[in-house]
Amino acid sequence: MSTELIQGGGSKLRGELTPPGDKSISHRAIILGSIAEGLTTVTGFLPADDTLSSAEAMMMLGVPIKIEKDTVKIWGKGTFGLTEPENTIYAGNSGTTARFLSGLLSGQNFFSSITGDQYLRARPMDRVVMPLSLMGAQIWGRDNGKRLPLAILGAKLKGIKYTLPIASAQVKSAILIAALYAEGETEIVEPEPTRDHTERMLSYLGVGIEKDGSRIKVRGPQRLESGRELSIPSDISSASFFIVAALINPNSEILIKNVGLNPTRTGVLEILTKMGGDIKILNKREESGEDIGDILAKSSKLRAVEIAGKIIPKTIDELPIIAVAACYSEGETVIKDAKELRVKETDRIKAMSTELRKFGAEIDELDDGMVIRGRETLNETECSSWGDHRIAMALAVAATRAKGRTEIKDAECVSVSFPKFFKILNSLRT
Ligand code: S3P
Repeated sequence: MSTELIQGGGSKLRGELTPPGDKSISHRAIILGSIAEGLTTVTGFLPADDTLSSAEAMMMLGVPIKIEKDTVKIWGKGTFGLTEPENTIYAGNSGTTARFLSGLLSGQNFFSSITGDQYLRARPMDRVVMPLSLMGAQIWGRDNGKRLPLAILGAKLKGIKYTLPIASAQVKSAILIAALYAEGETEIVEPEPTRDHTERMLSYLGVGIEKDGSRIKVRGPQRLESGRELSIPSDISSASFFIVAALINPNSEILIKNVGLNPTRTGVLEILTKMGGDIKILNKREESGEDIGDILAKSSKLRAVEIAGKIIPKTIDELPIIAVAACYSEGETVIKDAKELRVKETDRIKAMSTELRKFGAEIDELDDGMVIRGRETLNETECSSWGDHRIAMALAVAATRAKGRTEIKDAECVSVSFPKFFKILNSLRT
């Protein structure tokens, strides 16, 4: 367990960075590239614990994959070219790996099993097991199919019409991947729009996928084209830690380059701008079916806002760092409709409320969110990440503006999505 020390005092942060590749898109590139026919080349890949779990899983299923820094070559085996894994697939901390593979493995003609680390084994899997079972999947799991490990006996799948009970891109994607193997049409209805990287990448790889308002339709079985180059932008979720660091510290200005600006992910920019954040998007462009741009963020005087409803799925992973921005804003910020935060890598409502209170922040925990009364400064403290990468990074940013020196325990978990986070944060401080 490693501890990081962050010097507070609100020193200025200046400079530029290119955050690592988008985690969500990196998972999809590995998994979909593996079932395309032939070579797919990926650039801008995120080489971190989570995405390497997906890569190792696909290698266990017989797919040759070569990773050199952020470039990956995948010799895809086609939809029915995977082979039975000799051992249980280990998804580590990655919900995306476990849930996407549940969909993928349901339609194979062999047996497989999936497990994960202590955090992932506590997270709900019935949200994918239920719709996949309706498609004909044969899945067994601990706690009546609710949790990992899961055992999956490949089966013939059929298309279904399914309204998602919760807004979840992971569940939507697990069903879409299974739909590539199913006979007939699969139609998914989303309660709120969630990140659509799977739809975009499938379409980029030649799969006929229809989108009509909140409905997504795909007719199986489908083949995926190869020979495509996938270029992955930097992760807006990783960028958001540096955006907030620039906004809350005096005399700060950070340019964050090559960031993915898919509109299903940019809720954080809408919210921080509404809070009075000085954020500019420069050099907007498109690559591999995704919007990209550079983000310039400068010190700002922030004010409280209410965050609820449709915007929540568009900023679900950024709510911990938005909570930090709220701590340093004028007024009372209310975050609601975010119950999903309770089943992330950890219970992020409990973790953020508990840890930010150690800094002296005034926070009420709600069943589905938080109420945060902002202050000029916070105090130094000793706090813990709860083993969650985004909690570790959010607390580090909170500490840059707090008084004195803060200790963050269990900080090595940043390797899940942003291994060089502390190094880059320190390099921007002057
Ligand atoms: C993800 C979807 C979201 C997000 C997670 C990554 C994805 O999860 O929180 O970090 O890559 O599809 P849910 O689908 O559970 O909301």
